[in-house]
Amino acid sequence: MTGTTSAGTVQLADDLVLTRMGYGAMQLAGPMVWGPPKDRDAAKSVLSAVVDLGITHIDTSDYYGPHTVNELIREALHPYPVGLHIVTKIGARRGPDKSWPAALSRDELVQAVHDNLEHLGLESLDLVNLRMTDSREAATIAGPFSVLASLQQEGLIRHLGVSNASAEQVAAAQSIAPVVAVQNFYNLAVRADDALVDQCAEQDIAFVPFFPLGGFRPLQSGALERVAASLGISRVQVALAWLLQRSPTILLIPGTSCAAHLRENAAAAGVELPAEAVTALNAVGIADRFVPWGQR
Ligand SMILES: NC(=O)c1ccc[n+]([C@@H]2O[C@H](COP(=O)([O-])OP(=O)(O)OC[C@H]3O[C@@H](n4cnc5c(N)ncnc54)[C@H](OP(=O)(O)O)[C@@H]3O)[C@@H](O)[C@H]2O)c1
Repeated sequence: MTGTTSAGTVQLADDLVLTRMGYGAMQLAGPMVWGPPKDRDAAKSVLSAVVDLGITHIDTSDYYGPHTVNELIREALHPYPVGLHIVTKIGARRGPDKSWPAALSRDELVQAVHDNLEHLGLESLDLVNLRMTDSREAATIAGPFSVLASLQQEGLIRHLGVSNASAEQVAAAQSIAPVVAVQNFYNLAVRADDALVDQCAEQDIAFVPFFPLGGFRPLQSGALERVAASLGISRVQVALAWLLQRSPTILLIPGTSCAAHLRENAAAAGVELPAEAVTALNAVGIADRFVPWGQR
């Protein structure tokens, strides 16, 4: 059993089994998630290593680059191995200034699904997350999520998720169509969604933390340093192992552009943190108020 598979899998639907240790592909684009990477072959070799490690969950979006990351995934991995699931998200676009404005109109959502299908070389998308932008009001999700539900009915999408969403928005989306995953900002230090993490576990829904390592601002904590030193593993591995132990339906998508980091992260799937380490790490987080991630 490899490190990656030792954390096991979560079955979200008959045709959707994801390894709890997945991979987030955003870091494969150029700086500021814009344009191509400096070394295209190196980026593709990271993707090949993802498959070699037995990971069945790759998280992406057509707005990474834009288009670049999906094109890299297609070049590196198409035709896709049986069992590999490429999870994408729609609801934003890239401005010429590299910003991430919302793109939640019907036309923009339909176009985004077709762009993902084309650039990934797929006829249907296994799981699409609707990424909300800066509103946490339940009412704001109904219109765009209904568009995704209609695309699901057409067969262009198999399963639906939400991202950057409040508990109220998750419930509002569930009243329209089944939600199999919630992808929100959450890690050892950013714990505003603690209750939602537990709620997802109660409902057998995946909670997929983005920025599990802090994203553009790496996690820093004395407790993390001390636990890592005492166990003889890296801080990154401690942070990922804590998330895996936090909830049985947490799935990880740590991002990296480096094959050595990918292997280090994947090995965290085999780490079991002792109870006293978990207690020390639990104290790190602050259940702060929601701030859209772009403004942090
Ligand atoms: N739904 C949303 O709105 C949303 C928003 C942001 C991200 N996401 C998704 O979440 C995924 C994860 O987020 P993320 O990549 O931004 O943040 P992250 O996983 O928290 O951190 C990535 C950063 O950590 C570094 N890193 C990774 N492994 C490392 C290691 N073993 N040692 C040292 N440094 C390491 C990476 O640099 P190197 O490249 O040098 O390893 C990169 O700078 C993304 O890929 C994307 O798919 C979703």
